Amino acid sequence: MQIWSHKHIHSLANFSIEDYQSVFELANRFDALKNAGTKKIPALQGTLVTSLFFEPSTRTKNSFELAAKRLSADVQTFAPSSSSLTKGETIIDTAITYSAMGADTLVIRHASSYITFEIAKKLDALNSKTSILNAGDGLHSHPSQGLLDIYTLIKFFSKNSLRPEVLNSKKILIIGDVNHSRVARSNLWALTAFGADIILCGPKTLIPDEFNNFFKTPAPNQIKDPIKSRGSITISRSLEESITKADAIIVLRLQKERMKENLLSSINSYSLDYCLNAERLSLNSKEIPILHPGPINRGIEISSELVDEYPNCLINNQVANGIPIRMALLYLLQKHNK
Ligand code: CP
Repeated sequence: MQIWSHKHIHSLANFSIEDYQSVFELANRFDALKNAGTKKIPALQGTLVTSLFFEPSTRTKNSFELAAKRLSADVQTFAPSSSSLTKGETIIDTAITYSAMGADTLVIRHASSYITFEIAKKLDALNSKTSILNAGDGLHSHPSQGLLDIYTLIKFFSKNSLRPEVLNSKKILIIGDVNHSRVARSNLWALTAFGADIILCGPKTLIPDEFNNFFKTPAPNQIKDPIKSRGSITISRSLEESITKADAIIVLRLQKERMKENLLSSINSYSLDYCLNAERLSLNSKEIPILHPGPINRGIEISSELVDEYPNCLINNQVANGIPIRMALLYLLQKHNK
């Protein structure tokens, strides 16, 4: 096990290769234990994991809670609509309250980008021992999703062993609404750290040209990128051309809840140009893997046929891999850092 130096996890922008390896190795060990019949271990007995989800979630919230239970932590959940938020309590005061109850880790999802930095800063100033684990903040970051996506791809390409170097020079095509996607941003940090080259494909309204400079834009909150050399990012507007080059595809959902203006002439016209279906996929001669972070909108960004029948559609693998990856994150924050 490498040295783990993060008290909080806000993003993958400051993850080193050793950080990724620590997460993957632990996740693999938890996975092996589960496959050998040991689903629950006492690793985090006596600790408290609190999930503060201010935005809806099926996968992330439930798999973090399951991950915590599998590590024997106590789990506390929070429902915004029946909480004191309705009486005017702020998000930061809500976090302070749960920290005062003894939360060892607050797993936070919120619609505001960078809010986890603000919460962590406030708690640290109060000398709180609570760790913050970002479960998705606005457009900014969804680190556990980025980690489970790359873990899924590494396992696919290295035939269930753990050789992240298999991603070097692989062309990963990310299709769709990149601009509103914290998942895509986390994928960019994670995949390029291991030398993968990214093709972003979609209309200009969803993938502005600024993504060419993604790694040159200074990261907020003094985050430093420890990776010396990253894979490339290119932008394409042609799905057909991009598919022919891809070694793997990540399809994104149109995130209408984050669009402040009408960015598409219609959903139908978007699907005509960018929905991934079997006919388009057949332009690629290999049986390449397809990922989607979920939730999926069938027939809009991906066809039902691919989701249900394509053997290398890895959506359910992503969900399953989310549990050991989140167990690893909860464990590392608790055991390697207090
Ligand atoms: N991928 C993802 O974040 O899904 P949920 O919104 O269901 O958590």
